[in-house]
Amino acid sequence: MHGANTREESQSLQTIKYTFQPHGDDRGQLIALEEFRDIPFAIKRVYYMYDTGEGVVRGHHAHKSLEQILICIHGKCKIRLDDGTETKVVPLEKPYEGLYIANNMWREMFDFSPDAVLMVLASDIYKEEDYIRNYDEFLEFVKRG
Ligand code: TYD
Repeated sequence: MHGANTREESQSLQTIKYTFQPHGDDRGQLIALEEFRDIPFAIKRVYYMYDTGEGVVRGHHAHKSLEQILICIHGKCKIRLDDGTETKVVPLEKPYEGLYIANNMWREMFDFSPDAVLMVLASDIYKEEDYIRNYDEFLEFVKRG
């Protein structure tokens, strides 16, 4: 019962938001995510953030090679993406929405509702050396292509 996920691409900043197909029935909803079927990479790590304080902004980094899909499985939050030229704010408010973030994108997560649980599916294990935490270095990184 698959193949009904949809994918929306924004023109300017090339954000890709997935709408996953829930398996709903009179008991409720269930979403199943499999690598290479629903998620465009092998899932090597899952992590999630919760109890995020009011006014907190997380992230402030890009990655050299990591790909991720962010899903706010409970509550709401917003993601600011910056490709070095443009920025875009993407609200995540539904457990069936997934935002794809490629490596070369500066990201900040903010405006968490008190009940927000932001889950991240990642294409690799945690590697500090993959992080770009300095914005000027990030601009150099995207300029080099
Ligand atoms: P941090 O990179 O500050 O999170 P964010 O990008 O959301 O602001 O990570 C917080 C802490 O968790 C930091 O000590 C590193 C650790 N961490 C792991 O051990 N593994 C992981 O996969 C991640 C994402 C973080």
